[in-house]
Amino acid sequence: MYNYSLHSQINAQLQVAGLDLAGKDNAFYTRFIANLAPIHDLYSELYAQHPKGREVFLQVIQTILNAYMNRSNALKKKDLGKLQQEYWFLSNDIAGMSLYVDRFCGDLKNLPLKLAYFKKLGVNFLHLMPIFQSPAGESDGGYAVSDFRKVDERFGTLDDLKTAAQAMGQENMYLMLDIVLNHTSHHHEWAEKAKQGDKKYQDYFYMYEDRTLPEQFERTMPEIFPESSPGSFTFVPECNKWVMTVFHHYQWDLNYTNPAVFNEMLDTIFFYANLGVDILRIDAPAFIWKQVGTSSQNLPQAHTILRLIKQCVQVATSGMALLGEAIVAPKEIMKYFGNEHFTGKECDVAYNATQMALQWDALATGDTRVMLAAQKDILPKPYGTTWITYTRCHDDIGLGYEDSTIAEAAFNAYHHRKYLKDYYSGNYDYSPAKGALFSVNPKTQDARISGSLASLCGLEKALESKDKSEIEISICKILMMQACSFFVGGIPMLFYGDEVGYTNDYSYLNDIGKSYDNRWLHRPVIDWEKNKKIDLKGTVENQIFEGTKKLLSIRKKLPFVADLKNLTWLNPHNIHIASYLRAFDDKRIYCIFNFSREAAYLTWYAFKEHGAVPSLLYDHWQDKNYQVGYDHDYLIVAPYGFYLLEMR
Ligand code: GLC
Repeated sequence: MYNYSLHSQINAQLQVAGLDLAGKDNAFYTRFIANLAPIHDLYSELYAQHPKGREVFLQVIQTILNAYMNRSNALKKKDLGKLQQEYWFLSNDIAGMSLYVDRFCGDLKNLPLKLAYFKKLGVNFLHLMPIFQSPAGESDGGYAVSDFRKVDERFGTLDDLKTAAQAMGQENMYLMLDIVLNHTSHHHEWAEKAKQGDKKYQDYFYMYEDRTLPEQFERTMPEIFPESSPGSFTFVPECNKWVMTVFHHYQWDLNYTNPAVFNEMLDTIFFYANLGVDILRIDAPAFIWKQVGTSSQNLPQAHTILRLIKQCVQVATSGMALLGEAIVAPKEIMKYFGNEHFTGKECDVAYNATQMALQWDALATGDTRVMLAAQKDILPKPYGTTWITYTRCHDDIGLGYEDSTIAEAAFNAYHHRKYLKDYYSGNYDYSPAKGALFSVNPKTQDARISGSLASLCGLEKALESKDKSEIEISICKILMMQACSFFVGGIPMLFYGDEVGYTNDYSYLNDIGKSYDNRWLHRPVIDWEKNKKIDLKGTVENQIFEGTKKLLSIRKKLPFVADLKNLTWLNPHNIHIASYLRAFDDKRIYCIFNFSREAAYLTWYAFKEHGAVPSLLYDHWQDKNYQVGYDHDYLIVAPYGFYLLEMR
């Protein structure tokens, strides 16, 4: 129904702001009016019953308006360009790297000096791991933020960030930063005030007088860091209360049942948008709504909040896309792209953590059946949304896919998972991999896996034993794993160091602020002397860098590998081989990956089952042509080898 009072209210607020509604601000005005009804409805779903609901709604409107007014003309122009491109983030032209500024290049001032390195590699999108103020020693790699608007001194200043962002902009690079939406550090101003007994700020968190409610919550809430931070609540001696801390005890969960919290965080989102962020990584969105009696993960209200944020961002800072960092089961992840009326209208991007973990599954077993069985759950992604595709990131590898998927591939889920954990953690003597188990839950034996791409692919052990052939095999694995993730659809995201084969870094064990968290194993400090070897032909660094670079350049040459919802998995003809087709109009590329240590054979028939039948195929990886043979003949795929075969 037309909401007269709402529109009058907005018009009044816009009038006061002195906008040129018929002129230069018309596009904004149109977007505002168009999105107002969903903004109001989504907000009301959450806060209509809240005593401060109406009052805060007017503040939300003002927050949106301020965001637009504070946006520079340059960014407004860039927004328009992105809107005209429509779904700019689907492009095959984007390739990213995620890095810790301090561990990569010291500080933000040095970052612009490294742009040539990214260019050489083919990376034009940077995810800077959290750089806002975070207490040393209690920082969770920066994900415990004590000031959302102050760059931590370790990295430099806000001006340094702006300068770096500007330098990136001049090189047409894209920027991603995090908003840590779910929690703050216990040293954030709001938490400090709450500790001192300030009721207003105690209401920003889930704080309780005694253990009654915490115990009710904990009955159904899984533990995230069961080893280092068991339970989901922490006692706060300063105010004699219990506060919810789902992650570490020093990360206090924000209470989004309070609309004031929503408005504060929306304002922070806009602060980042106006720094020039192209994709905002919303950290841990699965956790933002809690309810007794549930797991307090993936609740419908968490989706409502994300949708509401999306609608607001579209109005004021429309060029900024949203990435939901939900590392959840395959069936849950699809919901982060929105469903029903909101299909494609929630997060624009999500991590394809399922595919990532399944590649590690296939690498350990040499068998691709689980990977294939899981695809049906993640293929229905809506058009206009995309994945971050990756093999490693700063976090652990969780084996979050369903037991039933493992069973479909004819494995016993318990033994299968145990094998994977043993294979990657060193409990299995014959494994070339060197990693560690992360967050082992003593009650359920659940565990995730830490370790760098190179070490998990066997490079660390091979280098230790100076075994040349094992070194070569591990390089093949690294490149095959990267290739499989670069072409499967989405934005490839490298993790810094992997482009040169950094093995595990054990120095974290000597730092008491890190030693409790073995994810630091795979967060290296870059040694630029080592990185110089990328130019020394034949070195490990050179082979991995050149291979990665070649893969990225192939990707950039093929517009039809953009995420156009054009992925078809080929029927399995050999359990060791994963193969998919990326096709658009008359363009087709067959991507074939052998996950086993032996050469594998793929019948040419496999190429003839999905539409147009190719006769000549050009392999972009080896620059070689292949004539498609008889059905009963085979393409031979080398151990851990792969083909990127374009139909000619
Ligand atoms: C996200 C981050 C992870 C962090 C957690 C809590 O999952 O990727 O590193 O520990 O959020 O903030």
